[in-house]
Amino acid sequence: MRRSRLVGCGAYLPDRVLGNDELSTRIDTSDEWIRTRTGIRQRHVAADDQLTSDLACAASRAALEAAGIGAGKLDLLVLATSTPDNTFPATATKVQARLGMTGGIAFDVQAVCAGFVCALQVADSMVRSGAADTALIVGAETYSRILDWDDRQTCVLFGDGAGAAVLRAETGAGSTEDSGVLSVRMRSDGRHYQALYVDGGVSSTQTSGHLRMQGREVFRHAVANLAEIAGEAMDAAGVAADEVDWLVPHQANRRIIDATGKKLGIPAEKTIVTVDRHANTSSASIPLALSAGIDDGRITPGDLLVVEAIGGGLVWGAGVIRL
Ligand code: ACO
Repeated sequence: MRRSRLVGCGAYLPDRVLGNDELSTRIDTSDEWIRTRTGIRQRHVAADDQLTSDLACAASRAALEAAGIGAGKLDLLVLATSTPDNTFPATATKVQARLGMTGGIAFDVQAVCAGFVCALQVADSMVRSGAADTALIVGAETYSRILDWDDRQTCVLFGDGAGAAVLRAETGAGSTEDSGVLSVRMRSDGRHYQALYVDGGVSSTQTSGHLRMQGREVFRHAVANLAEIAGEAMDAAGVAADEVDWLVPHQANRRIIDATGKKLGIPAEKTIVTVDRHANTSSASIPLALSAGIDDGRITPGDLLVVEAIGGGLVWGAGVIRL
């Protein structure tokens, strides 16, 4: 049975760190409010001359190095972003050229905060079908460019960053003990378009616009949808909650992470949390958290991982991976 195996992860965070106290000098908020409502202490912000592709390239190079694979071997690059460098072409093609990947296909996917899970499902499906052998999946964002820095309800929640992972085709018995992507499930419900959106765009305003959010509405959908889809992905993979070594959730909010873990029956000590340091980096948050867990030695080869995310659309998804 052919499946894709995750063989390397990489991360990149811009140097500039913006703490809650510094934010409190610009808008009417406080470290205490932000920490108790979200768990966020700080976020990274890209320099003026740093683009989403720059962050993506740095994370991609780190992932390729961790995998011990040269860019020339890649035949698929799927980049998840809702903050592309330009309206077109896909930011993925710029990253493709800069990495020195000369063959295969590179394209972007747009599923906002669920983008990395979407990239995982697309790449895994293409590897399983034989359309690709070695794939790079990337989540990269510069949300600092689409935040309304006068809106305290949203600007405190997000940060910039990028994360990447390399998937390689492998053939095996297909058991849950074998390394590989065991299952991915995705869903969307466009009736909630207005719950989280950007009030600009090429076709509507010819401006890039700013992020707008009904926080409570998003919160309400997040926990129920995430627990349900992660449960479906675990059922599809044939694994139970007590077999999961690590929950690697999208890092939107500590309260959403804790409540989802509780509903799934995965304890807090088996959950990777980076929202305190990174804030919400949208499509980059899962690979950033994955890299953090691998780099500090908590996540090790053979571990069973559950990833899950929800974002604008609403779009949500989850995957089960044996490392
Ligand atoms: N600092 C101080 N006060 C604030 C701030 C702030 N940064 N933001 C809002 N407030 C005030 C409001 O003005 C309001 O004041 P009022 O009572 O005088 O009117 C009060 O705090 C409560 O505001 P709410 O919006 O009701 O606060 P809530 O408890 O719902 O928390 C939050 C807001 C943290 C955004 C919460 O709704 C949430 O976590 N939602 C999920 C949204 C999310 O994580 N989105 C990320 C993108 S989607 C995703 O990735 C899953």
